[in-house]
Amino acid sequence: TGMFTYDPGFMSTAACNSSITYIDGDKGELLYRGYPIEQLAVNGGDFLETCYLLLNGELPNATEKAEFVSTVTKHTMVHEQMQFFFRGFRRDAHPMSVLVGTVGALSSFYHDSLDINDPHHREVSAIRLIAKMPTLVAMAYKYSIGQPFVYPRNDLSYSANFMHMMFSTPCEEYKVNEVLVRALDRILILHADHEQNASTSTVRLAGSSGANPFACIAAGIACLWGPAHGGANEAALSMLEEIGSVDNIPEFIAQVKDKNSGVKLMGFGHRVYKNYDPRAKLMRETCYEVLQELGLQDDPLFKLAMALEKIALEDEYFVSRKLYPNVDFYSGIVQRALGIPTSLFTGIFALARTVGWIAQWKEMISDPEQKIGRPRQLFVGAAKRDVVAIDKR
Ligand code: CMC
Repeated sequence: TGMFTYDPGFMSTAACNSSITYIDGDKGELLYRGYPIEQLAVNGGDFLETCYLLLNGELPNATEKAEFVSTVTKHTMVHEQMQFFFRGFRRDAHPMSVLVGTVGALSSFYHDSLDINDPHHREVSAIRLIAKMPTLVAMAYKYSIGQPFVYPRNDLSYSANFMHMMFSTPCEEYKVNEVLVRALDRILILHADHEQNASTSTVRLAGSSGANPFACIAAGIACLWGPAHGGANEAALSMLEEIGSVDNIPEFIAQVKDKNSGVKLMGFGHRVYKNYDPRAKLMRETCYEVLQELGLQDDPLFKLAMALEKIALEDEYFVSRKLYPNVDFYSGIVQRALGIPTSLFTGIFALARTVGWIAQWKEMISDPEQKIGRPRQLFVGAAKRDVVAIDKR
């Protein structure tokens, strides 16, 4: 054993310096490069503006924005060979497993620019990842439903193009609905970064060894897949569907409070927020706007979610533990209304978080204090002993 601090879950360990995202968990405040998430989501322009901000530290002016958008749109197509990669999967494979594989495979398509010590290579990889993620996520979806892949359209905005690749078919072009596109954009902005969460820490740890950015992001996607992290929106929606009606809420809450049941209120609680997650508030508003636009104001799941939130926020169990709704509590309902299947929710999260991962990766690579990540342990196994021949054991 050594003299190490035992800190499972890294509850009290700061592993890096970062100037990207700031969270005040007690106040329920989230800032990207100093800007409150509420302002970025409501009047801060589109998702690519937030991407520029996270990557470069400042919001772009009009010229910088136009240049950035043009650069990203030039990289939206994936190599034609990628199709065969997709076709190797079973049609019923989970989209997250397909994404782990295909994003990792990008490193074998773009090995011309994988020198992580070259700032230009780093920049190109970052742009490629941000530009190609929507294409890959939409391809994973199209493959799963047996429809042909849809090529990107560079005359559309980032989010509108994603909806196009998801929902257009050779028979019918997707009709852009600005309210729905704006809602998707907001989902992407709200999920773009969240400082040193599990998947971002995974990306940094993978990157600390000098691994290429595509491989690092694939590692992040693998981590995000888990139900305690990115899988929570999928789990939250399934939970609402299972509860079924407002009448069943008390029985469900009783189950959650019974520690032996193993049942959690999905979309509630957060390692850092001990107050209302500011993203959850914005997501609830977006949820309302989208349902209104689609004439689904009476959506029973939305009503159920609001009732569940109200009951939980008044319950001693949740109050004493400072458990509030997190971003995933309402995002599933919005995504479902946009026509996105439940199995793709975490894929959308991955698409949004890619910019955060890559911004954090870039920050780490250029940090002179950066070292290979190598946690220590408190050894609790057997003391030194001798091997006994097999016939004597
Ligand atoms: N339902 C019921 N009880 C809960 C919940 C919940 N959702 N979350 C925490 N608790 C209880 C927990 O059992 C513990 O109780 P006690 O003190 O009696 O042992 C107490 O609250 C503290 O929780 P914790 O597990 O020590 O907190 P943590 O920081 O380790 O876990 C969390 C944070 C997000 C993993 C957890 O709150 C959780 O599992 N929530 C549900 C899943 C979820 O919504 N995840 C999305 C997180 S936000 C998006 C993202 O980051 O991907």
